[in-house]
Amino acid sequence: MMARGWVLALASLAVSTTVAAQDLKSPSADQYVPRLGDIMSAAQTRHQKLWLAGKAQNWALAAFELNQLKASLVEAALLYSGIPVSNVTTLEPSLQATSDAIAAKDGRKFARSLGDLTEGCNACHRSMGRSFVVIKVPSDPQPFANQQFAPQAKP
Ligand code: HEC
Repeated sequence: MMARGWVLALASLAVSTTVAAQDLKSPSADQYVPRLGDIMSAAQTRHQKLWLAGKAQNWALAAFELNQLKASLVEAALLYSGIPVSNVTTLEPSLQATSDAIAAKDGRKFARSLGDLTEGCNACHRSMGRSFVVIKVPSDPQPFANQQFAPQAKP
């Protein structure tokens, strides 16, 4: 499959504090094509976790979740060519702003950029006849009761 330039541009958005995970390739990546709804469900989980990590000021985890979220969006764009290019590229500024906020450990900027990013999710849903899928900045209470979001105490 040809990687398009804009997808590479999106994929290369740097997240400064990220954990390198390039080695974690799925062994069945060339046989298994996830359904778009499954990719989006993963994006939803990551969007939620990104917010929880940022709220808990766990910036390393936030950087990781942002990268995971970007990977979901890149995957959607690469695998589903019916998705208009502009619907993905318009997310770039808010992804970058979120990345910058994480690098700066700036909670306010993080909240603002996540709001913009969330609007980008919905803009694409509206334009693709999925206006009934409305994403919002999460509200409490904490939904992932099986994961700790507060940073761990330094050993
Ligand atoms: C470039 C377009 C596009 C962007 C950007 C986008 N989505 Fe989607 N999303 C879709 C499409 C198309 C569907 C419908 C998939 C289907 O019909 O199977 C969808 C469906 C969904 C669903 C429903 C999945 C299900 O099976 O219940 C969720 C949740 C979702 N998106 C979350 C998100 C989140 C969160 C973001 C932003 C971080 C986002 N999406 C950004 C195009 C997009």
